[in-house]
Amino acid sequence: MTFIKARNLLKQYRQGAKTINAVDGINLNMNKGEFLAIIGPSGSGKSTLLQLIGGLDRPTKGTIEIDDIEITKISDAKLTTLRRDKMGFIFQNFNLIPTLTAAQNIEAVIAKRSKSDRKKVKEVLKQVGLEERANHLPSLLSGGEQQRVAIARALINEPEIILADEPTGNLDSKTGESIIQILHNLNKRNKKTVILVSHSDYVKKYADQTIEIKDGKIT
Ligand SMILES: Nc1ncnc2c1ncn2[C@@H]1O[C@H](COP(=O)(O)OP(=O)(O)OP(=O)(O)O)[C@@H](O)[C@H]1O
Ligand SMILES: [Mg+2]
Repeated sequence: MTFIKARNLLKQYRQGAKTINAVDGINLNMNKGEFLAIIGPSGSGKSTLLQLIGGLDRPTKGTIEIDDIEITKISDAKLTTLRRDKMGFIFQNFNLIPTLTAAQNIEAVIAKRSKSDRKKVKEVLKQVGLEERANHLPSLLSGGEQQRVAIARALINEPEIILADEPTGNLDSKTGESIIQILHNLNKRNKKTVILVSHSDYVKKYADQTIEIKDGKIT
């Protein structure tokens, strides 16, 4: 059963007088519970593609279906709701709020408040092995720990899909691989659908499907 389907995706940007095809005719199919790696050199269109699939931006042309919803046709408000309910995002720069503790960073994005919030925050911190760091500010955490907080934050609304854009880009290779390992575990144990963007070839070994892109095209 196809869970995510993209057809003839085109994303154009204007740069002065030039038009750039950042994503140029990409097709892809993903099943639920799959791990997709998108790899390619800098400027090849990886982040643009991830943003389109994640509904953070809209394509110039083409269609994207997620769970039978044609997301290129729905309103901004519906798209925001779909993103909140189905997706968790992880970025290279962690994007934690510096004045909030690890636990507060996670609490801050809870979509539907309930009495069990504190317990849920504890659970997601446990999932990434950081229960002991709940009350630490980001500045007191290592890069790898900050990224684990960001993963916990991405998990708090129980998304079906995790989208990660170069999550290891600011980490040394050993810490980076431990982050990929966490994503791998979320995929295998928790059945999350994972889309991982990376420069690095080694991530292929964790993926069910790899697409390599260059100049916006699958090579
Ligand atoms: N907002 C924008 N406005 C204009 N051009 C853009 C914009 N975003 C990306 N581009 C261009 O689109 C192309 C693809 O960029 P993208 O960021 O998707 O590449 P990438 O593969 O993620 O690169 P990196 O590995 O460096 O993150 C590049 O030529 C880039 O300059
Ligand atoms: Mg990028």
